[in-house]
Amino acid sequence: MTEKTHDPHADIAEVLLERNKAWVAEQLAGDPDYFKKLAEGQSPHSLWIGCADSRVPANVITGTRSGDIFVHRNIANVVVHDDLNMLSVLQFAVEVLKVQHIIVCGHYGCGGIKAALTHQNLGLINKWLRYIKDVYRLHERELAAYTDGDSLERRMVELNIIEGVRGLAKTSIVQHAWAERGSPVLHGWVYDLSDGILRDLGVTMSDTGRIEDIYKYNFDE
Ligand code: CO
Repeated sequence: MTEKTHDPHADIAEVLLERNKAWVAEQLAGDPDYFKKLAEGQSPHSLWIGCADSRVPANVITGTRSGDIFVHRNIANVVVHDDLNMLSVLQFAVEVLKVQHIIVCGHYGCGGIKAALTHQNLGLINKWLRYIKDVYRLHERELAAYTDGDSLERRMVELNIIEGVRGLAKTSIVQHAWAERGSPVLHGWVYDLSDGILRDLGVTMSDTGRIEDIYKYNFDE
């Protein structure tokens, strides 16, 4: 026996399906072949690695459309070399889709960064936030100069993005593509929730020049 329980959120789900229909109609009005073309395949120019935060949707804030950006999002846009999910996305984006740009995008006011800077025990999430605590430890000397919590947190958001870009540069996936075709270009951007602006942190990389020698791989065989 199944009994219908009252779901207060059911109307939200219905609204989403309705909005989808409206969106489809809108796309078709602009280009009758819109979905036909997208169904044939994708060739996004960029890979976006961003925070899962609902306020930082890659396509919306960059004014891009379906097919433009390959997207990977997780809590606090963490890039670590043993994350099978991120690495699979990276390898596919670089080796198959041959993206020209990879953008690591964090944002001020990031809940993941905030939580990592506390001593709160959050269970499973502790394990994910450990990577951010490691960024803190790596930059402890610089961070010691920050006397107020707000600016420390903002700097940590930036450092986590910078370490993310550096983390990508240390992968053989990215280094091999650089050796082979001189791209993708790596970018570190920060999004400001308060004004909607994306700012470039100036850590753009397209070769191994800015990473320590020990992380460089040889591909001449
Ligand atoms: Co966040």
